[in-house]
Amino acid sequence: MIDLQKLSQEAKEASITASTVEELSKVQNQYLGKKSELVKAKKGLGSIPESDRATAGKELNEARESIEIIFTERKLEIEEAEWDLNLASEKIDLTELLNPITRGHLHLITQARDQLEDVFVGMGFTVAEGPEVETAWYNFEALNIPDWHPARGNFDTIFVDLGEPEEVMLRSHTSPVQIRTMERQAPPIYIVAPGRTFRTDSADSTHLPAFNQIEGLVIDKGITMGDLAGTIDAFVQAFFGKEVKSRLRPSYFPFTEPSAEFDISRPDGSWLELGGCGMVHPNVLSNCNIDPEEWQGFAFGFGIDRLVSMRYQLDDIRELVLNDARFLRQF
Ligand code: DAH
Repeated sequence: MIDLQKLSQEAKEASITASTVEELSKVQNQYLGKKSELVKAKKGLGSIPESDRATAGKELNEARESIEIIFTERKLEIEEAEWDLNLASEKIDLTELLNPITRGHLHLITQARDQLEDVFVGMGFTVAEGPEVETAWYNFEALNIPDWHPARGNFDTIFVDLGEPEEVMLRSHTSPVQIRTMERQAPPIYIVAPGRTFRTDSADSTHLPAFNQIEGLVIDKGITMGDLAGTIDAFVQAFFGKEVKSRLRPSYFPFTEPSAEFDISRPDGSWLELGGCGMVHPNVLSNCNIDPEEWQGFAFGFGIDRLVSMRYQLDDIRELVLNDARFLRQF
């Protein structure tokens, strides 16, 4: 007789070495199949004494049952492991969808424009707008720059092929919004007008043919150069910080008298020119049907791109329009 105890122990150990259902069924065949020792022993029952036969048969059946249980259990184990493995491999990672989506933000110029508007609105100004395509009247004449005036040459104007030659143009500064505002609105006037402006400049590290300016205009009674200087100082400190100073230098613009350029101080003590300003010329007021005897005012204008490039110390102002996300993301 075979050692059934040992056989079932062996079957158990062999079953564990099988890691797939196919492998297991091969092993199972060895222990329960036609050529297995169990089957051989069963066939051999006839050759043992009849008195022992029943007990031996019973023992063989019991052994068979216990080995079958071993394989059934192992099969379940393997199937479960395979199932887990399948689940893991078919798993779709949905957490990706839960990750915060990277958000864009306003362009540097737009941010600066918004901040400038906020600073001036905080000082009691409102925001005005005008068209980007202008006529000679608004861009030049009403601003006291008649067509014979040499200052016209300084503006490197981009003309539009419409009407008389040099009659329609892309505005070369935001100053025409002064005229449009005074035409529309009776004084007192306190406005700022940010917007795009255009000149024939070719783009280089400090110039763009399409750039941005912000214009300021105040018309009221008893306005002096002191109000102008104070407003510029207040704006410069609100925008750049308390430690930054401003100064005015005499200059010339046809639309202001007296005229000045204004500078802001840099940390190293040097000055940076930011824009132009002055007391609104009486001719400009008259051109808008405002009595210069009754009303006075000041105006100023400066480049927003310039201010941004100075604030962030950009090496090349063209970065602002190249739309390279690696650059823009930093701000
Ligand atoms: N429009 C001028 C320019 O683009 C800047 C300027 C100077 C605007 C003096 C003003 C001003 O309002 O008063 O060069």
